[in-house]
Amino acid sequence: MARIAIVGGTGLNQLESLELKDTITQETPFGQPSGQLQLGVVAGQEVLFLARHGQPHKLAPHQINYRANIYALHLLGVKHIMAVNAVGGISLSMLAGGHICVPDQVIDYTWGREHTFAQYHPEQPLAGNQHIDFSAPFEGAARAALIQGAEKAGIDVSNGGVYGCTQGPRLETAAEIHRMGRDGCDIVGMTAMPEAALARELDIDYAGVSLVVNPAAGLGDDESITLESMMEVVNTGMIRVTRILEQAVNLL
Ligand code: HPA
Repeated sequence: MARIAIVGGTGLNQLESLELKDTITQETPFGQPSGQLQLGVVAGQEVLFLARHGQPHKLAPHQINYRANIYALHLLGVKHIMAVNAVGGISLSMLAGGHICVPDQVIDYTWGREHTFAQYHPEQPLAGNQHIDFSAPFEGAARAALIQGAEKAGIDVSNGGVYGCTQGPRLETAAEIHRMGRDGCDIVGMTAMPEAALARELDIDYAGVSLVVNPAAGLGDDESITLESMMEVVNTGMIRVTRILEQAVNLL
């Protein structure tokens, strides 16, 4: 059906440049995805769009049925996923609101999420192929397309970075962010995992593009992080992320 999917995050619940052809309700053995999938055309390419938090935004990061979302895309024939996230900046070069990073690594700090399709039953021992190689979580054609797409769109991005994925929905403490900085995290968000690993389990090429919407806890000039200040950056920044996606879909 569609080879390419875009998963939109906070601030990208809808893809303005999508010429809508159909809306699809896709059931999965893992339950319902976050909402209907939109099949349409972006910059001449057929694309499936899914709003990760639902449309309108209703699901917090820990409430998202990541398995249903990824399995639905798999059932609809998707081979490449480009996933958009709003994040906080940790490393100095990624602190500024509006900065865009195409990460190449992830550290998973989430807990309690349904994070695998591998089902363990005593009568059905864990098969070898359930231990997926995840050394390079974002390494395929989708990541290359995002980097090249940004170049074509004339938009600066960090090529690489470590995405630290926290459980949320609360933001982190300053001490947690300091620890994450020591761990090597460049950015912090709440949604890349288990999404990326689930895609890998189904052999779907997956890459993320992350928009920094605030300096992470304890790193900004202001003592607290407000939703209003985040949303200002989200609204302008996602226009630039969309320009990158419009180029990238034609490079896959
Ligand atoms: N932390 C975690 N997730 C986020 C942040 C943050 O500071 N900003 C946007 N998403």
